[in-house]
Amino acid sequence: MDELLGKVADSLEEGTVPARIFNDPQVHRLEMERIFTRCWVFVGHVSEIASPGDYMLRYIGQDEFIVTRDENNEIHVLFNRCAHRGSPICRVEKGNATHFRCPYHAWIYKNNGEWNGAPLRARAYRKLDPKEWGLQAAPLVDTVHGLIFACLDPEGPTLREYLGDMAWYLDVIFGLSPEGMSVIGEPQRWQVPTNWKMGADNFVGDSYHVASLHRSIEEVGAFPDIDVTGGNGPGKHVSFPQGHGLLLNSGYLPEPWDKGGFPPEVSATFDLDRLTPLQREFVAEHAVTHLLIFPNLAFLRVPAVTAPGEMPAVFTLLRQWQPLESDQVVNWNWMLRWNSAPEEFNETGYIGGLSQHGPSGILEQDDGLAWSGAPDVGRSAFARKREVKFNYQLGFDGMSDYSVDTEYPYPGTATTTMLGELPQLTMYRRWLKEMVRA
Ligand code: FES
Ligand code: FE
Repeated sequence: MDELLGKVADSLEEGTVPARIFNDPQVHRLEMERIFTRCWVFVGHVSEIASPGDYMLRYIGQDEFIVTRDENNEIHVLFNRCAHRGSPICRVEKGNATHFRCPYHAWIYKNNGEWNGAPLRARAYRKLDPKEWGLQAAPLVDTVHGLIFACLDPEGPTLREYLGDMAWYLDVIFGLSPEGMSVIGEPQRWQVPTNWKMGADNFVGDSYHVASLHRSIEEVGAFPDIDVTGGNGPGKHVSFPQGHGLLLNSGYLPEPWDKGGFPPEVSATFDLDRLTPLQREFVAEHAVTHLLIFPNLAFLRVPAVTAPGEMPAVFTLLRQWQPLESDQVVNWNWMLRWNSAPEEFNETGYIGGLSQHGPSGILEQDDGLAWSGAPDVGRSAFARKREVKFNYQLGFDGMSDYSVDTEYPYPGTATTTMLGELPQLTMYRRWLKEMVRA
């Protein structure tokens, strides 16, 4: 493993990444131990557990947790395995309960994770200390604009520290309306044969694939004027040393709303006084269309049409790649609504968004197929013999007109164009930093 990680370090210097890291059981195991138990990982939205007693099953790496809201409105992220013999306790995706009872020997836990009893307790467990036998809980849990994150490392940074300057952009994206956003219905879940890093690699800043992989969406009239510049349009990458990254496209407040912005009846519900002067200046000029919070949470806000010929509607979604194996993920997809916006806007966005990005979404099919290749190469005996590496040299060292934009006045490292792969290289550097840290 040390040898492989050393090769990754050398590769990144020359703008390549060894294919093997996209499908290797040992790499995967180490990722679970060094990435997913140290990073802040998204586990859901507060609107999904709005009332005391609400709970839902969620995953950090390969581990299953019950995310609960207790009677004091506090959120807990509890390991869904019994302290007695490890039996799964909660067997349904979501619900409302004050207590959970293990099906095996019927130990009982409160929805804040505390041990609360067992059959024949007075005779069977006279000396048991309830404080020691509650459910294991994520030591750090916090929210930002309704997004719930958990960190399994008690020594970890605060959520704000972990997000770094990405927090400034989250304030801009989610802070527009004091009423905030909520999840529409259930998150969609489906399995895709890829490695979780392929999704992150794409959402952190891959604007280059849109004109080729997603061309058909324009050909069938489902998305007029798709960016055919292959990322050579007026956008920018913005990346952060923590491995997070985002894509900027043209302005969205108040015009041109059909290019990624909001119609006037929606932007009228926003309160820009909530933002700093610099943030207000930013929203007048730029829109964040894609972003990645390392390791595996993405955000997307783009226009979609509900039918050919219709005006596009802006939709917002959250996406997560839950790692199952080194070549399998569960895609999680949360469609969001602005609580202050007219219902018709939210509904049209929901339909249009799912038609693009959902289990049967037209763009989703494109991406899913393309992303299945990297783990094939990672596993291949032939490719391992050849030590195949993937190319991340777009914009690398004078390869294109792509450099750091030193005039960019907002947080993060911005680039002059989108014709490069700085965010991906930054993300793999972050990945490597955690992987080599014992
Ligand atoms: Fe849960 Fe025994 S395994 S009570
Ligand atoms: Fe795509």
